[in-house]
Amino acid sequence: MSDKPWDGRFSERTDTSVEAFTSSIQIDKRLYPYDIEGSVAHCRMLAKVGVITDAESGELAEGLWRIKRELDQGNFQFDDSLEDIHMHIEARLLQQVGKVAQKLHTARSRNDQVALDARMFLRDVTRRVIERLHDLRKVLVDLAEKNIDTVMPGYTHLQRAQPVLLGHHWMAYYEMFSRDAERFADSLKRTNVMPLGAAALAGTTYPIDRHHTAELLDFPAVSANSMDSVADRDFMLEFMSAASICMVHFSRMSEELILWSSAEFRFIELADAFATGSSIMPQKKNPDIPELIRGKTGRVFGDLVALLTLMKSLPMTYNRDMQEDKPLLFDAVDTLQSCLDITIKMLPTLAVNRENMRQAASVGFLNATDMADYLVGQGVPFRSAHSIVGQAVAYALAQGKELHALSFKELSGFSKQIQTDIFDHLTLENMIDRRRSAGGTATDNVRDAIAAARQRLAEDPRREGKTADDKGTH
Ligand code: ARG
Repeated sequence: MSDKPWDGRFSERTDTSVEAFTSSIQIDKRLYPYDIEGSVAHCRMLAKVGVITDAESGELAEGLWRIKRELDQGNFQFDDSLEDIHMHIEARLLQQVGKVAQKLHTARSRNDQVALDARMFLRDVTRRVIERLHDLRKVLVDLAEKNIDTVMPGYTHLQRAQPVLLGHHWMAYYEMFSRDAERFADSLKRTNVMPLGAAALAGTTYPIDRHHTAELLDFPAVSANSMDSVADRDFMLEFMSAASICMVHFSRMSEELILWSSAEFRFIELADAFATGSSIMPQKKNPDIPELIRGKTGRVFGDLVALLTLMKSLPMTYNRDMQEDKPLLFDAVDTLQSCLDITIKMLPTLAVNRENMRQAASVGFLNATDMADYLVGQGVPFRSAHSIVGQAVAYALAQGKELHALSFKELSGFSKQIQTDIFDHLTLENMIDRRRSAGGTATDNVRDAIAAARQRLAEDPRREGKTADDKGTH
């Protein structure tokens, strides 16, 4: 009969269409380094507890490392009839080391094996993502510092609202991506838990030492319940949730870069190296990178929603449906990483049109709140001040002028509390620097925020995942 490790009870060969339909090798082959590392740790543990001999463990490990080299070098034959990476490696091991290979799968199932591989893969990825977020946060702090004195309109409802520093705006993104880094570090605690030894679902009759396997693979904890160990994909869902929120931040920033590059805004120009042209309109310089990031955000949301939907009705414990987790996880991982990489390269090349930003902040009554605040300073209650300034704005609009362009005579007509120092009060620099409330846009505040961020970035180990934060919860 055929050659499948599970075909003992079968009397017919698998239909070839079934092989093609059930095979996941083209997707899960990228798990091979983890599969091999996990298998080596497993056979060492089996030898330690006496289920196999040290000599057998040595032979198995040597064969496994040889297979790893073949895979690294691309000298490995893949075959749909062997379903997945786990069976490929085991089948190749049999060719390499002979009958002893048949002992590797003692006290183990593909169900706990695939959970182990996925967790090892994702813990590496998560650490790399935290590192790249660290790089991105540094880029944002650099930009903030460079633009500490660039004044721009701050918006609500995409209407000009109050002037802010562009440095303050960049630091807002710094905060978002810092929260993302924390979310990934937190999810890592639950990813970094060792499931092997759950076997198919119920644990095993062999006297295995799961803590030893965990130690060999640098896991701080082992999973507590064998059924949960093979049924759980929360760690993927958490990563993809954190990735989705992170992509929201990328997408919002991209939307702004796109708007700011338009002729309507003219706030920034993307470097030629990070923009593309049109095949028909010679004058065009398009912000395709931020547009694609905005578009890819939808892909990552889709991956998350697909995995949530995949998991939501599965009875305990492992079900083959779960093989569909990997294309989704890998897509989310690859998309997030590519967005991180390109943004880190693109942002420092942005040219800021400071004059246009400043000009935009000077037009559209962005100092109306400050005129009301001035009146409050003169003892007028805020609501009355609001209404007085409202009348002044209506008047100025009818004159086609800004508030600060009205004469003292015109302004003081709205309230006898208005003195000549009103004009000082309404300059952009004054408006910015009076916003000294904690977290406000005053230059000193932004400078402090930049200094605090720099200190945090210096203290943050590059690999937050390797610190105390990374302790398992079990
Ligand atoms: N390729 C499978 C997956 O990714 C591995 C586990 C298969 N287990 C099984 N009992 N068929 O989920």
